[in-house]
Amino acid sequence: MKENILSPDTFDVEEEMSELSLRPKKLSEYIGQKKVKENMKVYIEAAKKRGEALDHVLLYGPPGLGKTTLSNIIANEMGANLKVTSGPAIEKPGDLAALLTNLSENDVLFIDEIHRMSKNIEEILYPALEDFCLDIIIGKGPTAKSIRLDLPKFTLVGATTRVGALSTPLRDRFGIVSKLELYSEKDLTTIIERSSEILNIKIEKEAAKELAKRSRGTPRIANRLLKRIRDYALVLGDGTITLDVAKKALNNLEIDELGLDETDRKILETIIYKYGGKAVGVETLAATLNEEVETIEDVYEPYLMQIGFLARTPRGRVATATAYEHLGIEYTL
Ligand SMILES: Nc1ncnc2c1ncn2[C@@H]1O[C@H](COP(=O)(O)OP(=O)(O)OP(=O)(O)O)[C@@H](O)[C@H]1O
Ligand SMILES: [Mg+2]
Repeated sequence: MKENILSPDTFDVEEEMSELSLRPKKLSEYIGQKKVKENMKVYIEAAKKRGEALDHVLLYGPPGLGKTTLSNIIANEMGANLKVTSGPAIEKPGDLAALLTNLSENDVLFIDEIHRMSKNIEEILYPALEDFCLDIIIGKGPTAKSIRLDLPKFTLVGATTRVGALSTPLRDRFGIVSKLELYSEKDLTTIIERSSEILNIKIEKEAAKELAKRSRGTPRIANRLLKRIRDYALVLGDGTITLDVAKKALNNLEIDELGLDETDRKILETIIYKYGGKAVGVETLAATLNEEVETIEDVYEPYLMQIGFLARTPRGRVATATAYEHLGIEYTL
């Protein structure tokens, strides 16, 4: 598979390990996302004062913005145990039943990619979330009996990159719904400086800013670039990441001044050249580029829209005049 350093949804085991050390453990160490953080702080404090489990939390937003990190922090701040699973990992109703019946009072259950949970499993979750009970059927055929089990009061933290794919009844059962936004350059700079300190990497302020500018608003990409550029710094200099080293390395990685990579450019160029700048439906775009619709919508579009290069119209996606300018293409529309 082609390595893609910008794609926030691919990761390897080694990265997962080092992410563990980079993950902030407390809300106060969680950088940016001011609104989410402030609200969460209040909800957590209130729940603790009442001595109750926190309301169920739904976190959504593009990959790599810190949903998993935040769920860890929530459990930590609540002084609760965290159990981790994901939508696709829960295959049978029995899997979910086992997870739920093994929870203790106030535990946090984290379900990543919750939009990929199957419908019949979702339905088991409804009473568990609302009334903290579980209806299970014992036996088969005419002698089958339904019994109701009480569950401890727990908190479900669900994470998803596509909140629109969640069914309404499921979404409605979350008391707290928080959207994570792409990070500002300033916050990303702080994240890069924090990670450098933890990883013992020397980096100049201007270099950290440059990296932040090219990390497309995403902490995971920022950390990944930092680790990669550390190697360049060792080879090109004395190990310190200077602005010069950072720029050389980033250019080498074909990441431009705005953090766009080959796929971003291909998306824009496809719209501009192949479809003559007219609106293009996302399915058509995906097929032309040989990418999944989900990947375009979740991974590429949020940033391209944030920087004003791509717009959604009722008839499809269009590239804006700023995108033409960035790519050095004359805007004739
Ligand atoms: N607010 C933050 N402050 C500092 N570091 C952060 C912050 N948010 C995320 N990170 C870092 O970014 C990395 C990615 O975060 P995380 O794994 O939580 O993302 P995610 O939203 O769960 O992504 P995915 O949707 O792909 O599962 C982590 O290693 C973490 O160290
Ligand atoms: Mg995650």
